[in-house]
Amino acid sequence: MPKVKVALIGVGNCASAFIQGIQYYSKFSKPQDFVGLRNPILAGLSPKEIEVVAAFDVDERKVGKDLSEAIFALPNIAPKVTNVTTLNVKVNKGPLLDGLGKSSKAIVQVSTTADSNVVKVLKDANAEVMINLLPSGATQASQFYAEQALAAGCAFVNATPNFIASDASWAKRFADAKLPLVGDDLIDQVGSTSLHKTLLKLLSDNGVRIDETYQLDVGGGTESVDTMDRSRDAKRAIKTESVAASIPYKAEVVAGSTDYVDFLQNKRDSYFWISGVYFCNAPMKIDLKFQTVDAPNAGSVLFDVVRAVKLALNKKLTGAVEPVCAYGFKRPPQIVSLEVAEREFAKFIA
Ligand SMILES: NC(=O)c1ccc[n+]([C@@H]2O[C@H](COP(=O)([O-])OP(=O)(O)OC[C@H]3O[C@@H](n4cnc5c(N)ncnc54)[C@H](O)[C@@H]3O)[C@@H](O)[C@H]2O)c1
Repeated sequence: MPKVKVALIGVGNCASAFIQGIQYYSKFSKPQDFVGLRNPILAGLSPKEIEVVAAFDVDERKVGKDLSEAIFALPNIAPKVTNVTTLNVKVNKGPLLDGLGKSSKAIVQVSTTADSNVVKVLKDANAEVMINLLPSGATQASQFYAEQALAAGCAFVNATPNFIASDASWAKRFADAKLPLVGDDLIDQVGSTSLHKTLLKLLSDNGVRIDETYQLDVGGGTESVDTMDRSRDAKRAIKTESVAASIPYKAEVVAGSTDYVDFLQNKRDSYFWISGVYFCNAPMKIDLKFQTVDAPNAGSVLFDVVRAVKLALNKKLTGAVEPVCAYGFKRPPQIVSLEVAEREFAKFIA
């Protein structure tokens, strides 16, 4: 089975979970052993067919190191779930641009190594799919890497909330270059947005009239610091729009990230409040909290998205690939209901 050759932009916590996940699941072959994965096999590919062939970061504790070592270097705090054998892929220094915000500058130690020639590294490694795992506030850097993907002939997966797949001009540029593009803002496997939308839909389907609802997250880790500094408003807009679309009428909806608590480390606390009325105006309230670990929450969806993008490459699809965007991302070019997203993705991979 030919492998999917992937380049990672940003060797942070998500990258750590992704690489550990490839090794962790590589030892299994029977579908029933793949506990924790939504799709053990997708488009004929299992996780061990995903190969990371290039990586870029700016932190001196990661640059120049083998990926197997760099993913466990501070400030990464994603849990270690498996030993990772030497991957023979060195982390390259990328240009910093707006990669770090005010607070994350105090956490990341920027390497003085010269910037590498990104397009050359990608071409030499035969990378087919670039995954953008930069901090959410890295708008210019995300655009810079999208340019490099275009120049190197790579498909682009935008896990960050920066508008790339949902920006018609970027979608056109990838279409013109005959390359697939998916994004924006990866959906978590057991994410607060999906859970919130599912609860609201269940209640609305049963005749409940939702008056008001909010869902707020508190997290640890560098990404939460960066969100506080630079992308809280953008994330709130994306999440609120996505959640509001699951209610078939207008209601008061707020969804977003609120704060950073360092001792939570890679954990995320998600708070939900829903208030509405049902039969003869009887009131109902839901007030709940759930806790997840952040980085592993990206793994299963990223595995699915990468394999679906390989399928898009095989099918010679170009520009924003809507069924993959709607299935795997909070801010696809076109926001559709969960059922439509699931149905279209199932058709796409069938
Ligand atoms: N479950 C999840 O963790 C999840 C879900 C959805 C979306 N995302 C998105 O994924 C992205 C990554 O999240 P994370 O938790 O891994 O973040 P992180 O802060 O742990 O990692 C970001 C990495 O990017 C590096 N970096 C910064 N500027 C750079 C540059 N110019 N060039 C190369 N590398 C650079 C940093 O040194 C760091 O290693 C974020 O945008 C986040 O919003 C994550």
